[in-house]
Amino acid sequence: MEKSMERENIIKKLESELNGVEKLSDLANVKAMFLGREGIVTKLSSKMKEIPNEEKREYGKFLNEIKNEVEEKINFKFQELSDKELKEKLIKDAIDITLPGRKIKKGSLHPLTRITEEFEDLFVSMGYTVYSGVEVESDENCFQKLNIPKGHPARDAQDTFYLKDEFENFLLRSQTSTAQARAMEENTDKGPIRIICPGKVYRRDEDATHSHQFMQIEGLVIDHDVSMADLKGTLELFCKKILGEKTKVRFRPSFFPFTEPSVEVDVTCFKCGGRGCNLCKDTGWIEVLGAGMVHPNVLEMGGYDSKKYQGFAFGTGIDRFAMFKYAIPDIRTIYANDIRFLSQFDRKDVD
Ligand code: DAH
Repeated sequence: MEKSMERENIIKKLESELNGVEKLSDLANVKAMFLGREGIVTKLSSKMKEIPNEEKREYGKFLNEIKNEVEEKINFKFQELSDKELKEKLIKDAIDITLPGRKIKKGSLHPLTRITEEFEDLFVSMGYTVYSGVEVESDENCFQKLNIPKGHPARDAQDTFYLKDEFENFLLRSQTSTAQARAMEENTDKGPIRIICPGKVYRRDEDATHSHQFMQIEGLVIDHDVSMADLKGTLELFCKKILGEKTKVRFRPSFFPFTEPSVEVDVTCFKCGGRGCNLCKDTGWIEVLGAGMVHPNVLEMGGYDSKKYQGFAFGTGIDRFAMFKYAIPDIRTIYANDIRFLSQFDRKDVD
């Protein structure tokens, strides 16, 4: 066959094969069909040995040209298909940056955590340190060292959960006042103390306003020349800072075994401002704290010389403050961890 005819046929066949190729992966088959070991162009080269010597040179040139042309066309197709596949991939994998992002649900501080932190910030600013104590406490620290010996009637109001067998002397603390006994004992140099102790306490109660587990915060100051005036000043400041400057504070004589004299502290009702409403049972006042001067027996049992040292202590319920502040009618909702309840506190407090 005339060489130019042959060349034309090969190129035509190549073009028609290439026309049918739509994917890069199929292009390899066409390449093999022409340039592979059994390929059309390869077979032509093997004919070289049959070519008379004087024509070999020209035949070689013909082979080279055809090979180059075939390669060029295949490469061109390769480039074309690569571009096409890349474009398709870019379109398919494109990210629509105009789509709004998915909202991440942010948690919020639990109302008890909020109030605890508010208390802590205030007292730390007055030079107190935060002391945590322990929740599984000895009978001694929870009661005896607070002037409440075994059989004392004050224990009745604080019935709690007791441990068994070899731990029968231990219980879940019923009041954060236990921190008083602990802190005095741990303070081995018997110097001044100024602490607050927020934390969980436990009692055998359960109704809408009492939970078997709730939170208190205790304060204890021990130093030389501490008087009832210090107690009054501190607690008045505390109530006004937490509940608002307009709040009036009233001290009523009371009894606690570990303080003498003892007081209960009332504040003007947050809801009606003192005029009288259902929250304050028409009295205009709400009781918020127990407090008093540390009983000399308690100081002595804690290793302090009651002739040289005096102190004052106070305790209040954190849940109680949360219930008032956020108008929560049932204490149990505070502990149920229901997201619908908790998410209501997902906002910044406005002063
Ligand atoms: N611990 C007492 C209670 O749970 C509250 C209390 C009263 C604490 C008087 C005190 C205090 O430190 O002085 O009812």
